[in-house]
Amino acid sequence: MNVKLSDGRIIPIDMHKVRVVQQTTLPPLSRRVEAIAEAGYNTFLLRTRDIFLDMLTDSGTNAMSDHQLAAMMISDDAYAGGESYYRLQQAVKDVLGFEYCLPVHQGRACEHLLARVFIKPGDVQLMNYHFTTTKAHFEMQGGKVVEIYCDDALQTASDNPFKGNLDLDKFRASIAEYGADRISFVRMEATTNLIGGQPFSMANLKAVREIAQKHNIPVIIDCSLISENAYMIKQREAEYADWSVADIVREMMAQADVIYMSGRKSTCARGGLLATNNPEYHRQFSEWLPVFEGFLTYGGMSSKEIEAMAVGLREMTDLEAASASVDLIAYLVDLMVKRGVPAVTPPGGLAGHVDAMKFCSHIPQTQYPAGALAAAFYIVSAVRGMERGTISSERDEHGQDILSDLELLRLAVPRRVYSMAHMEYVVDRLSWLYAHRDLIGGLEFVQEPPALRFFIGRLAPIGDWPQKLAEAYRADFGEV
Ligand code: F0G
Repeated sequence: MNVKLSDGRIIPIDMHKVRVVQQTTLPPLSRRVEAIAEAGYNTFLLRTRDIFLDMLTDSGTNAMSDHQLAAMMISDDAYAGGESYYRLQQAVKDVLGFEYCLPVHQGRACEHLLARVFIKPGDVQLMNYHFTTTKAHFEMQGGKVVEIYCDDALQTASDNPFKGNLDLDKFRASIAEYGADRISFVRMEATTNLIGGQPFSMANLKAVREIAQKHNIPVIIDCSLISENAYMIKQREAEYADWSVADIVREMMAQADVIYMSGRKSTCARGGLLATNNPEYHRQFSEWLPVFEGFLTYGGMSSKEIEAMAVGLREMTDLEAASASVDLIAYLVDLMVKRGVPAVTPPGGLAGHVDAMKFCSHIPQTQYPAGALAAAFYIVSAVRGMERGTISSERDEHGQDILSDLELLRLAVPRRVYSMAHMEYVVDRLSWLYAHRDLIGGLEFVQEPPALRFFIGRLAPIGDWPQKLAEAYRADFGEV
């Protein structure tokens, strides 16, 4: 939540008390230079002990509430028919308004099941933007992902409050081009992860629903960050300013035929779920669940996490919970802008993002500017961010990189984990790096898996730029 101070400043204030803490350390510069080399210049391959602030992701790394932890103590581990499942089912009914729900081990398992049930080879899946695992699963099933985002969605510096909107003209044109029969569904991702966590508006969702219904196209919402999107609707869409986050979420859900979520984000747990009011879809998902995930009442999740997700679902619509990361991200992004760091604006829902194509305009996209920036930023800060650019993309059939629309350094803000002081530190080191950006060089792959290469691929610097960067840093700050 934001509060206004008597000097006029607005700050994000923590609406919780920290009663359990996890120690972190700030490894010295010399160790950071070694650690990133050991990790193949891929921040995914760093170890926690070498990280000061872990801003890799907001997935599964959020602070849980006392009520979530308490619920985990009374979980029911029955293989079938466990009471934990029924508590989750009730939470899904109460909060999201769906009769049927199925737990899965995490969000991408939903995408796998959606692909099995909805996609035939040659089908097209329309969406406001793809996510890495989404695209991988849909294309493995023979589908074709078509993104129909609004024209300025990829403009990193913008004042469009809803860059996650689906372009309605492109939607109509796609229906005309492919024919409704070939369109498996239209998917709306609540805060588009890869283009900066940008929300869509309620008006846009309702318009998408109306067009889809006319053509019998199912509407699917990726709800992984649903409460954050709902909170930004409350903040940015005048009509909903007086609505509660809970009511906005219900209204959003009323537009969907199927929803799915990674339970690792808004619900501050680990797991995932699929939900619908359509008994036929439910039957089809249910048939695959025991094959790939587990029995219907646990779906590959631990019963403890099912309990935590049930409580997390109810808690995520509290204004305090829904706003926790959004307000801190806005603070982080505003600081970046004030210090001249090229940030993605407006602030989004899961992270502060830096435009690496502007930050490292001297590095060609084929040398992965966002990956290089993530490695360089780790060296100068011990903060772990993530590349969201061409490394997170793939190669075409000729082995050439498919250059990503955007090259972003993502600095995720897990819910209720970090403080304003941490954000000040992040922006301080980031602006120092911006002043020394010419020292950052490119990267090249030395080990590259065929799918989702960003997770475990290894890279090497082109030249000895990490050492030169470290020398410049040492001259200003010493080893810390
Ligand atoms: N959909 C969205 C919008 C996501 O952000 C993610 C995961 C998934 C689906 C897949 O869910 O990880 O539980 O299997 N995003 C994580 C991230 C990995 O760091 O952004 P999952």
